[in-house]
Amino acid sequence: MPLVNMKEMLHHARANGYAVGAFDLVSLDFLNGIMLAAERCKAPVILSLAESHFDYFDFDLIMPSVEAAARRASVPVAIHLDHGESLASAVEGIRLGCNGIMVDASTNPFEENVRLTKQVVHMARSCGIPVEGELGYVPGVEGEDAERHPGDIAYTTPEQAQDYVARTGVDFLAVSIGTVHGRIKGQPKLDFELLQAINERLDIPLVIHGGTGLSSDQFKRLIENGVAKINYYTALSDAAGTTIAANAGSPGNKGYTALVAGCREAIATETERCMRLWGAAGRADEVLAAASPWREVEHLIIYNVEGLDDAGVEDMARQGRDILGAIPGVRRALTGAAIQEAAGYRFTWLVRFCHEAVIDSYREHREHVKFADELFRPVAGNRVSIDYRLDE
Ligand code: 13P
Repeated sequence: MPLVNMKEMLHHARANGYAVGAFDLVSLDFLNGIMLAAERCKAPVILSLAESHFDYFDFDLIMPSVEAAARRASVPVAIHLDHGESLASAVEGIRLGCNGIMVDASTNPFEENVRLTKQVVHMARSCGIPVEGELGYVPGVEGEDAERHPGDIAYTTPEQAQDYVARTGVDFLAVSIGTVHGRIKGQPKLDFELLQAINERLDIPLVIHGGTGLSSDQFKRLIENGVAKINYYTALSDAAGTTIAANAGSPGNKGYTALVAGCREAIATETERCMRLWGAAGRADEVLAAASPWREVEHLIIYNVEGLDDAGVEDMARQGRDILGAIPGVRRALTGAAIQEAAGYRFTWLVRFCHEAVIDSYREHREHVKFADELFRPVAGNRVSIDYRLDE
């Protein structure tokens, strides 16, 4: 069950002088390759899904695989929404199984960035989920996905970083100190003095976007100055692309499986190189001891109804599934009718929460209160309910 609390994972990294890789995945080959690497070198890992990549895969369809890979791993894993664009996408990411959320409002003016980030933090807190915000702007320069990060670099300032963290309550801060997203010629010049000044003012893990193309020495200095999470994608994409190009250029079968053969391994090799370089290799057991397992909770109700026929119950249940299923932190809301009546009860509700924190926020959520007070409780006086943590 090594899906773990991402905040505790990153605080362990920060306290112990290493960084966890957040590797963006765009297909099952990426997922497999990243997990192969983590298992091989016993590293904690963050499986990252970027909203800016949603044209490349179906978020809804890929998430069950990502979650299954995390849950069957022997190393600690967190699942992160990268570059989330709105409150709605944060809610959706949590519903689909992310246990860490990034809200990227960094292209907005400072006050607007604070306002949007605060909204997401407020919602995510009620779900027990940590949030990464970005201050300053990390652009793309050329190559892979540069067009998804348009514009010029804006450096993070220490004063604004302190103000931003205090006002938004973010758990991790992505900073802009000279890195860029994507493939670049040469190495970017990083402002380590700036990073040091930011780190001295903050007490939270820092995040670097645009990990591709940095040198071993640059990574070392980033980590020495508070960076505990490094986002990495383009080099994995290039490793896979080079493999496909070589397959295409060699004689023989040009079918899909022949062309992508070896991609998984190429991605694993580059991922493992990073995990070793960033000091995450060999840390899995320590993180498993330090970070709590990520355990979901279910809210179960069995009940009888008075004053409604079966069609009326079905109508109420349908409305409830829609209303309650949309509350932040609810992963699914299911209803049922007994095949054999157990202990005299006929109907059920099963609501899956992403985390224990949702027990309270769900109970108090205005849509839940309205549904329960107006539609459910008046007809379902005879009921039993229980909240329980799920064992793996
Ligand atoms: P690179 O593609 O430059 O490695 O950056 C990835 C990233 O920052 C994703 O958020």
